[in-house]
Amino acid sequence: EKEHQSITKIKYIDKLQFGKYEIVTWYFSPFPGEYRNAQTLYVCEYCLKYMRLEKSYRYHLQQCTRRHPPGREIYRKDTISIYEVNGKDDALYCQLLCLMAKLFLDHKALYFDMDPFLFYILCEIDKEGSHIVGYFSKEKVSLDNYNVACILVLPPHQRKGYGKLLIAFSYELSRKEGVIGSPEQPLSDLGRLSYRSYWGYTLLELMKECRSSSQSIKELSELSGMTTDDIIYTLQSMKMIKYWKGQHVICVTPKTINDLLQLPQYKRPKLTIDLDCLDWRPHN
Ligand code: ACO
Ligand code: ZN
Repeated sequence: EKEHQSITKIKYIDKLQFGKYEIVTWYFSPFPGEYRNAQTLYVCEYCLKYMRLEKSYRYHLQQCTRRHPPGREIYRKDTISIYEVNGKDDALYCQLLCLMAKLFLDHKALYFDMDPFLFYILCEIDKEGSHIVGYFSKEKVSLDNYNVACILVLPPHQRKGYGKLLIAFSYELSRKEGVIGSPEQPLSDLGRLSYRSYWGYTLLELMKECRSSSQSIKELSELSGMTTDDIIYTLQSMKMIKYWKGQHVICVTPKTINDLLQLPQYKRPKLTIDLDCLDWRPHN
């Protein structure tokens, strides 16, 4: 059984043809057997159908009428758009998305039941259509108050600010729901770098704005929507916290805040959410 597992976990598919991009894959994903030894997998960027042969793909592109994700467009600012897709209503699309995303996610389990999840699909719009650049999924009900299950920005679009834009969006949704949220653990290395950068910048900005010198972790949590654990972790990584008589105490001067805000990892995000462009209400 063990041996069988290690054999099937080998990465077969080397690259994806996806829209105008050829994308080298990173990890194993359980595509059905006959697709696994395809070196290149052809995937329609609109409906996410995958194909083994270039000629089926060319034919499909002529036939496929989709030009944007299913579900409802809940955010639009300039050429950036976000769709909310319900796993219950568009199960096939969501399964295909997860299957493709797994090629870039190492330690995430793949579920086939999409009912418990919502998906937030980030697109770049041009005259051809709405091109998916990334997404995150979220459990409809999370007992741990996770506000993100899986987050992905496709490799050709990474390091442009989309990851932190999606993270910011996930906190805006939680804020509207009135809950303090956190991403599902464990984070990948890239996930951790992105969250740490988002969390760090967010806390530094809040501390900069705050006039009083005695801001508490609880206050920061209410203002940011971040959990106290994530705040403590972030402040520790910035060396801004001391453990004093059984309590975490923030130790910071305006100068340290300004110095840290000069660092590349805590600079102002390239893309931010404009709440006036969000058309969304909590589900319950
Ligand atoms: N090297 C160093 N720092 C990095 C790197 C890197 N390769 N990638 C991101 N960072 C840091 C930087 O501080 C960066 O900001 P900067 O570019 O302004 O310096 C910041 O993280 C985030 O950059 P973004 O451009 O906002 O993020 P991106 O669009 O690249 O998306 C994401 C980040 C979603 C984690 C992406 O790397 C990805 O999809 N990775 C593969 C899938 C994955 O690991 N997902 C997270 C799993 S954990 C979970 O799902 C809860
Ligand atoms: Zn299609």
